[in-house]
This record gives sequence, structure tokens and C-alpha cells, in this order.
Amino acid sequence: MNEKDVLILAIESSCDETAASVVKNGRTVLSNVISSQIKLHTLYGGVVPEIASRKHIEKINQVIEQALQEAEVSLDDLDAIGVTYGPGLVGALLVGVAEAKAIAYAKHLPLIGVHHIEGHISANYIENSELEPPFLCEIISGGHTHLVMVRDYGKFDILGRTRDDAAGEAFDKVARAIGLGYPGGPKIDKLSNEGNPDAIAFPRAKVEDAPYDFSFSGLKSAVLNYLNKCRMAGESIAEADVAASFQKAVTDVLVDNAIRAARDYRMDKLAIAGGVASNQHLREAMEKACEREGITLYNPSPIFCTDNAAMIGVAAYYEFLNGTRHGLDLNAIPNLKLGER
Ligand code: KG4
Ligand code: ZN
Repeated sequence: MNEKDVLILAIESSCDETAASVVKNGRTVLSNVISSQIKLHTLYGGVVPEIASRKHIEKINQVIEQALQEAEVSLDDLDAIGVTYGPGLVGALLVGVAEAKAIAYAKHLPLIGVHHIEGHISANYIENSELEPPFLCEIISGGHTHLVMVRDYGKFDILGRTRDDAAGEAFDKVARAIGLGYPGGPKIDKLSNEGNPDAIAFPRAKVEDAPYDFSFSGLKSAVLNYLNKCRMAGESIAEADVAASFQKAVTDVLVDNAIRAARDYRMDKLAIAGGVASNQHLREAMEKACEREGITLYNPSPIFCTDNAAMIGVAAYYEFLNGTRHGLDLNAIPNLKLGER
């Protein structure tokens, strides 16, 4: 380790993953420890906030210790602590925020609160050392669907967002209706391989006067209606065809909006981020469209798409360079807006 290296310990606990990571100079991930609660929440068909908070409390110290060990550093080597402080589940966020504040206080370290979505965007810097703003980024997760112009580190113009369900939420709800269970995204992704994406014509919604906005609730309802109709008529349901056709409808909209924005803004760099960005079909479709348009596509490895603390460490580094410092009165903000400090 060099004297001038900036080492950040980052903590993420906004939903159902307890995660800690040590990141060097904003781009080198020395450790990335994730303790997932997915199995626990699967029993209930979705994330139960109270259980999530309790599990974070149980796991957080272990996860941090492991992250430090794997990075071969101690708390004394750190330059700052980064932590997700919103948006997310308030009780879950509070665990990470309280832990980060305690370490910052005990070790006299700068505390940097990070916006979860800024973290997802920053995941793209980890494996692409040449990537720098400006670029376009589509963030597609369980709680968010945003199309943003990343003007600079930590500076964003929101071009579009979902009017109703997030893309991941639609995946989860449709999966539940088909009977696949939680979390739906990876299960639909897998089942779709056996289905025909053109078997059922599901709608692709456009939002009038807002060309980069998304709407997935109509598509979700169309799938539910289709399933009900089949059940009422006593017809058997080709689940793989439903999954593949739904996935194609979501993908078409996500690709169309992103490519249209890239064209309109003459931007030849497009990044995708968030849990849904790990979807195999979407990755292939986006790759093809970008190739056709002469756009360079950035797409984090699946482990950096779903929630992790490495992405929070990267975002915290650039906030650190920008001079962002939070006090020990930092609070969890469940509905924190992107770009707010
Ligand atoms: O980014 P993330 O881990 O958490 C949030 O910030 O929301 O995203 C989780 C979402 C879930 O809705 C999950 O079903 C979806 O991402 N997801 C996927 C895939 N893997 C995770 N959706 C489609 N295909 C996947 N392979
Ligand atoms: Zn997330």
C-alpha cells in the first residue's frame, strides 16, 4: 500500500444484503463481502422490513471484519467511511448508518453518506478503468428505474424514470404470479431460456410527452390477466413462454428508451446498472443495439449489478474528492432523491 492511497471502508444495508467492502483509490476493490438474506425472505415471498433490520444487526460486524481481513487492512489504515443512507428501507438503512457513524467517531475518520443509486451507477467504474463522465446510465433495480445523464462524478441529470413499478418489481410480481417465488428476476431469466419470447404479445408502454419515462404496471397487469384468463378457461399455462414473452417486453422498452436517449443526446457511452442489469437477455439485446448504433456499452459483472458495498465505496471515493463530508447527525433517508446531499 502506498502512502498516498485512499482507502475507504464502505457499508451497504439498504435492503436485504448486508455488505462491506474496502476500495482503494476509487477503482480497486480489495474486498467485497455480501451476506444475502434472500433465503430468509423467500419464505415470505418478498422482503420483510423488520426481519431485514434484525438480520443486518446480526451480520454487520462479521461482514465488516471479513471485508477488512480480506483486504488485509485494519481500521487504522482507512481514510474514510462510506455508507448508503438512502433510499431504502429505513430500519435497514439505519443499521449501516449507525455502524458507520460509530466507526467514524471512534477512529476520527471522515464520514461520507452515499446515495444508493449513485452507488449502482458507480459500479461501472470498477471494471472499466477508462470510463469517465459524461455518459448515459440506465439504472434498473428492484426499487428504481432511471435514465440519467452522468455529467460528472456525483452530478446527474435525470432524463426519465418509471411512473409506477420499477423494472425489478415487475419481474418479482410476475414471477410470483407464475408461481416461481422470490426473487423473481433471476428465476424468470433462467426459465425464459426454455420459452418462446414471441409466443404472447404483451404491451410495450410509452408515456406521452415524456419520451424517456417508463411504465411497467400495464405490462404486469396484462400478464396477470393472461394468466387468469387461461386459468378460468382451464387451459394449461406455458410458463416458460409467459416468462420469455414478458422478459422480451421489458427488455424492448429498456433498450428502446436508452438508445433513443443516446441518439437524442449524441452520447456514445451507455452504462447499465442495478439488479435487472444482470439479466442475460437484456445484456444481449442491449449489446446488439449498441453495436448497431456505434455506442460503447458498459455493463458491470452480475456481482456488481445487484446490491453490494464495493459500488458504495467507489461512489464514496468521488464524493470524498468532491469534499462531501457528513456529520455524526447523518440520518437514514428512505426517500432520498438522486443528487441530494
Ligand atoms: O439492485 P438490486 O439488487 O436491489 C435494489 O436496489 O432494488 O435489484 C434487485 C432486483 C430484484 O427485483 C430482482 O428480481 C432483480 O433485481 N434481478 C433481476 C435479475 N437479477 C436480479 N431481474 C432480472 N433478471 C435477473 N437476472
Ligand atoms: Zn440496489
